[in-house]
Amino acid sequence: MRKEIERVLLSEETIKSRIKEMAARLDEEYKGKRPLMVAILKGSVVFFTDLIREMSIDIEMDFMSISSYGNGVKSSGEVKMIKDLDGKIEGKDVIIVEDIIDSGYTLSYLKKLLLARNPSSLKICTLLDKPSRREADIEVDFRGFEVADEFVVGYGLDYAGSYRNLPYIGILKREIYEK
Ligand code: IMP
Ligand code: MG
Repeated sequence: MRKEIERVLLSEETIKSRIKEMAARLDEEYKGKRPLMVAILKGSVVFFTDLIREMSIDIEMDFMSISSYGNGVKSSGEVKMIKDLDGKIEGKDVIIVEDIIDSGYTLSYLKKLLLARNPSSLKICTLLDKPSRREADIEVDFRGFEVADEFVVGYGLDYAGSYRNLPYIGILKREIYEK
């Protein structure tokens, strides 16, 4: 384990087995359809690639990049689009795939933006949810794990660009981001 990690919160095995359950749920819910799964760069990429490979139904994929300003541990509430989707979503069953929902500002911005393009449906799938920190009113359709109010990294999640390639999710030592 890297020295900046306080402890492992979700092991590789725990994540893998939960993702299998989530994939089965999505297979069931979208049976007979071909949902467009949208990965929100960069954090959700690791989750996204594992999730889609556990699914049996056919899907389409697209990518979007959003930044909520700053390099710190808190969202500023100000959201900006860095990269839009390549394709149209009108009439499609869209699933936004996120790494974590914290304040909810990123997703409420995204949801508004995408709903205006008239998809046939729009749902949210997130690996992690920190409901205790919610400020924007946002409904989560598929969720992997609920986590407490601690800063977590790994499995796609970063602190200042680091730790994304850890195979597990761990709690970052406070001294790292409070120094
Ligand atoms: P929200 O707009 O506050 O919901 O923030 C969502 C984004 O903040 C996520 O996509 C992450 O990039 C980042 N974020 C929030 N909490 C954490 C965390 O505990 N670890 C790493 N990134 C986080
Ligand atoms: Mg991030």
